[in-house]
Amino acid sequence: MIPRQFVVVYINGSRREISGRKTLDTLLSYLRYEERLTGTKLGCGEGGCGACTILYSYYDHHEKRIYHRAVNACLMPVAACDGAAITTIEAVGNIRDGLAPVQEALANTHGSQCGFCTPGIVMSMFALLREHGTRTDPLTPLDVEKNFDGNLCRCTGYRPILDAYKGLIAAEDATCSAQCPMGEQCCKINRSRLGKQEIVLSQKEDKKISTVLDRAYIFPPELIEYRPAELNLADGKWLRPVTLEQLMRSKTEHPEARLIVGNTEVGVEVKFKNLKVPVWISTTDVPELQRITEDDVGVKIGASVTWTHLNNYISNALKRTKLDGNPKLYQLSSLQAIQSQLELFAGKQIRNVGTIAGNIVTASPISDVNPLLVAACASFTLLNCKTGEKRNVSARDFFVSYRKVDLKANEILFQVVLPWNESQFDFTHPFKVSRRREDDIAIVSAGIRLKLSPNQEPTSSEKPGFIIEAAHVGLGGIAPRTVSMNDVERVLTGKLFNETSLKEGMRVMARSALLPKNVPGGMPEYRQSLAVGFLFKAFVATAHAIYERFHEHDSLLDSLGFDNVQDVPGISICERSVSRGVQIFSDCEPLAKDDITGRPVPHLSAALQVSGEAKYLDDIPRFDGELQAALVLSSEPHARIVAIDYSDAEKIPGVYEIIDVKNVKGSNLIGPIFHDEYCFADKEVTTSGQVIAVVTAETTEQAKEAARSVRVTYDPLPAVVTIEDAIESASYAELVPSRFIQKGDAPGIFEKEGTGAKIVKGRVRIGGQEHWYLEPNGTIAVPDENGEMLILASTQSPGKTQAIVSRVLGQRAHKIVCKVKRLGGGFGGKETRSCFLSAAIAVAAQATSRPVRLVLDRDVDMMITGTRHAFLAEYEAAYEATGRITALRMEIYLNMGNTVDLSAAVLDRALYHAVNCYDIPNVDIIGKACYTNTTSSTAFRGFGGPQGMMICENVIEHVAWDLRLPPEKVRDINMFGRHGNASITPYGMNVSSDCLQKCWEGALGDSSFSQRRREVDSFNSKHSYRKRGLSVIPTMFGISFSFSPLNQAGALVHIYQEDGSVLITHGGVEMGQGLHTKICQIAASELQIPLEKVFVSETATDKIPNASPTAASASSDLYGMAVLRACRTLKQRLEPFKSGLELSWEETVDKAWANRVSLFATGFYKTPGIDDVNLAVPGARGRPFSYFTNGSAVSEVEIDVLTGEMKVIRTDIVMDIGRPLNPAIDIGQVEGAFVQGLGWCTMEEFVRGSKNEHVWLKEGKVFTAGPGTYKLPAFGDVPRDFRVRVLDGRSEADTICSSKAIGEPPLFLAASVFFATRDAISYSRRQHNLHDWFALDSPASVERIRLRCIDDVVSSVLPNTGSVNPSLSL
Ligand SMILES: Cc1cc2nc3c(=O)[nH]c(=O)nc-3n(C[C@H](O)[C@H](O)[C@H](O)COP(=O)(O)OP(=O)(O)OC[C@H]3O[C@@H](n4cnc5c(N)ncnc54)[C@H](O)[C@@H]3O)c2cc1C
Ligand code: FES
Ligand code: FES
Repeated sequence: MIPRQFVVVYINGSRREISGRKTLDTLLSYLRYEERLTGTKLGCGEGGCGACTILYSYYDHHEKRIYHRAVNACLMPVAACDGAAITTIEAVGNIRDGLAPVQEALANTHGSQCGFCTPGIVMSMFALLREHGTRTDPLTPLDVEKNFDGNLCRCTGYRPILDAYKGLIAAEDATCSAQCPMGEQCCKINRSRLGKQEIVLSQKEDKKISTVLDRAYIFPPELIEYRPAELNLADGKWLRPVTLEQLMRSKTEHPEARLIVGNTEVGVEVKFKNLKVPVWISTTDVPELQRITEDDVGVKIGASVTWTHLNNYISNALKRTKLDGNPKLYQLSSLQAIQSQLELFAGKQIRNVGTIAGNIVTASPISDVNPLLVAACASFTLLNCKTGEKRNVSARDFFVSYRKVDLKANEILFQVVLPWNESQFDFTHPFKVSRRREDDIAIVSAGIRLKLSPNQEPTSSEKPGFIIEAAHVGLGGIAPRTVSMNDVERVLTGKLFNETSLKEGMRVMARSALLPKNVPGGMPEYRQSLAVGFLFKAFVATAHAIYERFHEHDSLLDSLGFDNVQDVPGISICERSVSRGVQIFSDCEPLAKDDITGRPVPHLSAALQVSGEAKYLDDIPRFDGELQAALVLSSEPHARIVAIDYSDAEKIPGVYEIIDVKNVKGSNLIGPIFHDEYCFADKEVTTSGQVIAVVTAETTEQAKEAARSVRVTYDPLPAVVTIEDAIESASYAELVPSRFIQKGDAPGIFEKEGTGAKIVKGRVRIGGQEHWYLEPNGTIAVPDENGEMLILASTQSPGKTQAIVSRVLGQRAHKIVCKVKRLGGGFGGKETRSCFLSAAIAVAAQATSRPVRLVLDRDVDMMITGTRHAFLAEYEAAYEATGRITALRMEIYLNMGNTVDLSAAVLDRALYHAVNCYDIPNVDIIGKACYTNTTSSTAFRGFGGPQGMMICENVIEHVAWDLRLPPEKVRDINMFGRHGNASITPYGMNVSSDCLQKCWEGALGDSSFSQRRREVDSFNSKHSYRKRGLSVIPTMFGISFSFSPLNQAGALVHIYQEDGSVLITHGGVEMGQGLHTKICQIAASELQIPLEKVFVSETATDKIPNASPTAASASSDLYGMAVLRACRTLKQRLEPFKSGLELSWEETVDKAWANRVSLFATGFYKTPGIDDVNLAVPGARGRPFSYFTNGSAVSEVEIDVLTGEMKVIRTDIVMDIGRPLNPAIDIGQVEGAFVQGLGWCTMEEFVRGSKNEHVWLKEGKVFTAGPGTYKLPAFGDVPRDFRVRVLDGRSEADTICSSKAIGEPPLFLAASVFFATRDAISYSRRQHNLHDWFALDSPASVERIRLRCIDDVVSSVLPNTGSVNPSLSL
């Protein structure tokens, strides 16, 4: 039969036959660009964020049932969808026909902020519900908690999403039940404290009743009858055999072909490594490769079995064996180990399609499963497709070298043979440590199988015990391939299972796992220590397992010789559990009749976001004649450009024109404050990732291919990469003079003899942070007549974009309009670092006279758009015996990168906050901006404030350590308001410390801090390998742009005569923070009309000119006031037509119109009472901030001493936000900022090569360019118990409705986790009599925690642990 040449697929209930090249596209690209189903989003393109999640349903002819799976559309080829029904967010529910419960639940509980992740999250939940179907066993909160390991959200902090879906599956509220951690304060019991319940109830108004769209829910009957047929797609580029014979024939005819199954490995290589494959052969429908069978030897797993299938098989096998009371349950130990490892393997979407063969043949040195297969003594059956012969190769021999396996040209992997474990004393243990527990590749993974047998003939000196009959140790992450640790195995085999053997095994392991300093991937000491720790854990786990199985041999644990071994954590201390969240706020008093401010109104775009209807930049349909752009970027950190050769690129079909500096008609020098940045590199590059040219082409793929083909010849110049390099070579920014904060006489204290002051000195190092907004940067430039140009951009600064584009084009600003509908997150990353992209694309549009679009791939975005500034500080503090700090001297350096951007202002804010909320009488701080050959660092939520406070809190900890006082005592004694005198910052601003202290005392009280401290002491005295830590951290964050001209705002309010509806335009950008929602609340309250009457459509520079960037937490304050003033003007104009009459709003408006009254008005606001303080002048004084937002947080953590893993057990936050404009949105900001801060100071490590740090990378090269390498907190990382309370109050300043700004201030509270971790580490060190101060760089990653901890076990063979300082990119 001739193979079929098209794919049959149902998309949202409609049948499609797809043929030709389109079948090779990803499903995501097909859905978005062919079907115009833009609800499914592109966040990363590599399976790491879940924004592209869709439901993939298929009929299993063997089992005669339909399966529903959540799948990443960005990695799924269209060709792989034959016979499948695809459901996208559009078919789940929509605003017109009604939202589905799975959407409504999320919208109702504020589970969507910017909304870019939201369709993917809805689809993951939808898939869970569809897969669960009508099963009688109910879904549990734990099922929900585990369901989202393939999804990321950067805004919400996850709690509201989990609450929404736990609520959906439970008749009773899952988190607010009788076990509510708030006890008597539970919002259900104590109605005066309206918490979460109130938020939910408040949104039911005016919502359509949920409906189910049957069309999409019915599996197409045609597909049940549908038999997979052989396919030949895209002229023989994609073959899909459906029998083994066909597969063998295809592979023989095309020896060059690449097999493909889940495409989760190959898809990433095609996209990011530009892999070219002549022919694909899909094995998904070959029955022999799909089967799992059992025989006497063990289990035979077909090569194309997915991880989900294997996991289900193992669950069933375990259930079956347990139910049968089968004494051979022990046989399943290796299978159980694989199942445990799968808990930590990728995300659900990847496990649903990724296969065992795909993992094995890829032969990644950090595979999770291959080391286990080695340890389990698995073998692989290889089939020669030409001869039909099969041969078996053991797993330990299969992995030959880096990504090379023992597979010959005609061979394929046919099946995996996993032998049964052989006795009651035969155990296989899995281990894996990664930067993040969920969805992360391993740093080191291992499988360790210990087969013991009772020691039948103990000698007179031996106790009866066990002999290690065989030891099998497979390791990943310590060599270029998966390895078996032969020396370790040898030294253990035949030995007694006791302390001597363990110590000898660890000693040999330490030697075998020794890695050179420049080992690819870095972390040599850490990886070595993990390997040793895993062996120890395997011994302990074996002793435990024997005890559990027989309830005897408890002396086995003792025989291992180390203290407290019973508490050694197993595979992870971070096992999945059900998290809980509580939010407490009071019902705000209405300010006037019909006041809707202070109410927890849901985000006004929530319904659009949960239904995928909210439009982001790349959802805008293509313009007529639109070209697609790709950037030619510098690969050198610092070099002269010798030549650029475009000839190869120009030959690529579809390429239209290549644009560079020659096309710039205006000025090539741009920048948000100083014009020190080149739009296009000209003769020299000063950082890797600098824009050299823009390729325009008909399609994005053509543009990218052409950009890769441009050849640039460089003459390298010396590069300065880190802060330390810059200090060494005195490389400071010429445009940013040093900054100073001075008060009192600090030099007098430090330098005059005889003051008797005690002094500590130290150094703090803080790494950068990538913004990781879910929506990557993008821009569209649309040229119009006579030089006019429309810029549609994902930017927080339409005003700056307009200004920079006008400059680079040489056009007057009035001809350039920049518009923004909404952003899928910004966090500062789109404040200025979006502008240079718009400038380059505008030049391309001007040169080609055609619309040009650029949407950055995630890796490019991460490489070129900059991060939060890395900081280094040297400090000296003098203090008294009480803990009172009398003087503080600091030198603070930031890594500015290759342009000034916003670094001067960031440095200012770091200095302002470098005493946090402490009243220190003598202060002398100097700040310097280091010029380096790295991508310009930029704004990030907190804008230098968190770094300044982090430095300060390190000083506090150091003083406390020196005095042996609890850090909270030193914090308390130094806090503003504790000293009777007026509280004044070192730069001369008065502080009202009431709220600060209420938050501080509130957090201590809510968390029962003193009692918990005793509990932590007690826990740590009983545990050696897990330690807990506790910390309380206050924050005091100044509100206002520190450059006073930016503190102005404009608004334009229209009232339409037709129906009295109100359209507002203001200068702020909606990026998930709920700004437009708050603005509508303010306007509706002021005009006393229903909220539905008010609307904000977009931000546009032709409506509101000169708007400041949406940043500094100040937008609600600024635009709220501007809108209020415009509404007041309109109200006054309407008043005469209303007074004395009972007219409705609509009638009043109509009457005013009939009387020719203007129904639009502007409002303008400038923050009063602030001034510019020029910190370049030593001793400068002033009031840079309008007021402070205060808060405090207590966090408790637990660490695994042997691996450095950390979990947050509980966090209590108390926040002062005045009278909140919208408490639900504000609490969302608190939780979201906290979790973002948690990432900053615990796991988000930006890695770049330099002379002294990360020497395994080329100098200046960014390693962390995607979700695979850079880890932001996932669902499982949030505090297991997360409580947020908002003080009842009012702003001390004259702010809009007496509210306070909230976007940035809570971020720093996550430092409570950092310092609780430090606390936990110090317990471990004290236990081993190490009492010296130790520095802990931020982030406190697994590596840093482990290498600062001390333990008997690893230290016995690696005495250096505890003193190694891991690399940090500064
Ligand atoms: C976001 C993400 C997270 C991940 N997390 C993890 C993780 O935590 N741990 C981990 O170990 N891995 C992880 N991976 C790696 C990978 O996805 C998995 O290893 C997966 O099992 C690969 O299977 P696949 O079917 O998708 O492979 P494919 O991409 O389809 O194929 C991979 C390779 O295997 C070859 N191949 C497939 N079948 C055969 C066969 N029968 N005979 C010969 N060659 C064959 C293909 O030709 C190809 O070279 C992750 C990947 C992604 C994208
Ligand atoms: S876009 Fe597919 S997982 Fe990120
Ligand atoms: S709401 Fe999840 S990323 Fe913005």
